[in-house]
Amino acid sequence: MGALGRVTLLVVFLAVLGERLMSFCNRALIFNEVEPVDLPGCQLLKGIEAGSEDIDVLPNGLAFISTGLKGPGLQNFAPDEPGKILLLDLEDGGLIPSPLSISEGFDASSFNPHGLSTYIDEKDGTVYLFVVNHPQLRSIVEIFRFVEEEKSLLHLKSVEHELLTSVNDIVAVGPNSFYATIDSYFSHTFLRFMELFLGLRWTGVVYYSPGDVRQVATGLHSGNGITMSNDKKYIYAADFSGHTINVYKKNEDWSLTPIKSVDVNTLVDNLSVDPVTEDVWVGGHPNLSKLVSYNPEDPPPAEVIRIQNIHSDNPVITRVYVNNGSVIQGTSCASVYKGQLLVGTVFHRALHCPLY
Ligand SMILES: *[C@@H]1O[C@H](CO)[C@@H](O)[C@H](O)[C@H]1NC(C)=O
Ligand SMILES: *[C@@H]1O[C@H](CO)[C@@H](O)[C@H](O)[C@H]1NC(C)=O
Ligand SMILES: *[C@@H]1O[C@H](CO)[C@@H](O)[C@H](O)[C@H]1NC(C)=O
Repeated sequence: MGALGRVTLLVVFLAVLGERLMSFCNRALIFNEVEPVDLPGCQLLKGIEAGSEDIDVLPNGLAFISTGLKGPGLQNFAPDEPGKILLLDLEDGGLIPSPLSISEGFDASSFNPHGLSTYIDEKDGTVYLFVVNHPQLRSIVEIFRFVEEEKSLLHLKSVEHELLTSVNDIVAVGPNSFYATIDSYFSHTFLRFMELFLGLRWTGVVYYSPGDVRQVATGLHSGNGITMSNDKKYIYAADFSGHTINVYKKNEDWSLTPIKSVDVNTLVDNLSVDPVTEDVWVGGHPNLSKLVSYNPEDPPPAEVIRIQNIHSDNPVITRVYVNNGSVIQGTSCASVYKGQLLVGTVFHRALHCPLY
């Protein structure tokens, strides 16, 4: 090859690299400016300093909160403490969460809880709590029974499966079955980074029940929060670096049919649905770089988004709360219960705000 050929090749290579780099920066929202939006009357929950990654509120106002998530590249303010599940009663106004004890036989010392989801048995009212656990960076879905009188969790089973690698979040659809989002195709840290850098869309949603495990949705850059509509007909799955909320119709055989994708221009973390209004609430990250390269002087902001009428042609997307990290950092979820907003974070505090 002549000198001209080599120069041409180099130019082409640099152009492709430059294009991928720009595309990556856009997906990481490095240039995304967000204006602060305040909500009056917000208060931090007492005692949460090391994350409140996921929150699920029962119809009676009891909220489960996962705390203490550890992972490669994630900031952690309590590296020596195992993760826990906290319980907060939104009916008593105290805003003091307390840890749930876990039955003997479960290895609580390596507990590394991530997404969680509750399932209530319609026949007898039993509450099941499903928790994504990453001991030694594995992905296990733990199923517990919540014993309200004892404020404890009885461990029932651990689910591991070859399709359930890099599980991010789950939504329980039966006492033994759930949908799970997968956040990366690769599990090796460098390959995970390349997957993000190149913008591969190799992740999706897996359906699990004993004896029937299959991929039911694909094409997401990085699956994240997942939840279900109140009428149980639709599944909503967040695409973190795709910035979208993906709406699927849930079919009789548990397969999913893609309906639409709503762009919210943030790195979408967990989702929840208002039990009354059906609005979808989103915890988001405005800037990936601030989230993963933690700098206390320039912390990751917090952002809570509400989507009204997600099924209509013109969903209304509102930034309800945006903070520059001075109050809370790195929002992972937002949940509402009777006019109260709970905001959770990947590794920081948790916030409670009256909505009206
Ligand atoms: C995003 O974060 C990076 C790293 O902290 C910073 O250099 C960049 O300015 C941030 N972008 C915006 C728009 O704040
Ligand atoms: C996060 O996702 C799980 C699974 O769908 C859901 O049960 C939980 O309510 C969500 N939490 C928040 C705060 O969005
Ligand atoms: C965040 O905003 C507050 C004012 O609301 C300001 O005092 C503080 O310096 C800002 N922090 C950062 C990290 O920009």
